[in-house]
Amino acid sequence: MAEPNLHPIPHTTLSALVHRILTANGVSPADATIIANCLIQADLRGVDTHGSNRIPSYMARIRQGVLNPSATPTLTQITPVVASVDGRNAFGFVAAHRAMDHAIAIAREFGIGFVSVKHSNHFGMSAWLVQQAVDAGMLSLVFTNSSPALPAWGGREKLLGVSPIACGAPAGSAPPFILDMAPSVAARGKIYKALRRGEPIPEDWALDAAGNRTTDPARALEGVMLPIGGPKGSALAIMMDVFSGVLSGSAFAGGVTGPYDPSREADVGHFIVAIKPDLFVGLEEFKSRMDYLYQKVVGGERMQGVERIYYPGEIELEMKERRLKEGIPLAEAEIRALNAEAERVGVEGLIVKDH
Ligand SMILES: NC(=O)c1ccc[n+]([C@@H]2O[C@H](COP(=O)([O-])OP(=O)(O)OC[C@H]3O[C@@H](n4cnc5c(N)ncnc54)[C@H](O)[C@@H]3O)[C@@H](O)[C@H]2O)c1
Repeated sequence: MAEPNLHPIPHTTLSALVHRILTANGVSPADATIIANCLIQADLRGVDTHGSNRIPSYMARIRQGVLNPSATPTLTQITPVVASVDGRNAFGFVAAHRAMDHAIAIAREFGIGFVSVKHSNHFGMSAWLVQQAVDAGMLSLVFTNSSPALPAWGGREKLLGVSPIACGAPAGSAPPFILDMAPSVAARGKIYKALRRGEPIPEDWALDAAGNRTTDPARALEGVMLPIGGPKGSALAIMMDVFSGVLSGSAFAGGVTGPYDPSREADVGHFIVAIKPDLFVGLEEFKSRMDYLYQKVVGGERMQGVERIYYPGEIELEMKERRLKEGIPLAEAEIRALNAEAERVGVEGLIVKDH
């Protein structure tokens, strides 16, 4: 199949468009800045499945009355190091950003901060939260649950979310450690992206409704995703549900509503931890140990056929550097979908020049 025509859009142009669409849909300018930043960070890092092209689905949820664009999450301090955020059905980006901000503030004072989030929504790419902690010089754990897409190992019904597990740590001169991985062979957003672009998917990503392997994204979306490592991936998805759903008071055990299901509020839960790096060794020692770890990882003997060993988050960081200069490549269908949202609320869309 031919590559769809891609147009490089400067990240500032795309961010401004996303901001315009959000504020015209009832989001405050401050919250729109947070959301646009998260989506553009995903676009820049090459996580195209969780970037600005999600805007139409989020706006649809506002119109359907299942996502509140103007809600303000509330925060309750439970113990000196533990807090709870009630997202009040605001954007997941806004609730999770508030939670990480507070976890960092607690960690600054007490060394570690735990914040649980309930009644939230999809927050896209987890790495932006890890980056928020890295920017504050903190280690972090970022967990979320999500709508059912995976079977428990041995089952064939959707029960568990393709819920990403993310964590990170700053370093000295080396890149930060940023792990952000879904417990499925591929993130479900990658199947939606293949569907939008009319492309087939690899055979090991999903089963169709009858339990057969499929390369057709539409049939895969009717079936179940496959977990990484069989029972191990399924166990990681259960772990995300324990910490993000069961513990927080949000939906769990298949109860989270998917971002494309207009029937009810999503009720997603998150679990966020920020940790100060100098708890056990001094800050400079911590940083130099991280730098050493990086060098040992990327400098090791390579497997045959491998040209370079990457550190977690490094591919995305290099993509970000490239896209900051070259722009974010959007397919024509993605530009049309964003422009349709702009037109709907009477704001200026993207003007694409031929190249
Ligand atoms: N919010 C939600 O409900 C939700 C659900 C699913 C996925 N997601 C997001 O989707 C995104 C994609 O997830 P994914 O699992 O497909 O990511 P992925 O498979 O592209 O990457 C997973 C991790 O492996 C690392 N990595 C990838 N290739 C590597 C290599 N060659 N060497 C070393 N490290 C490498 C990456 O840096 C990353 O930390 C994530 O940002 C995730 O947060 C969000």
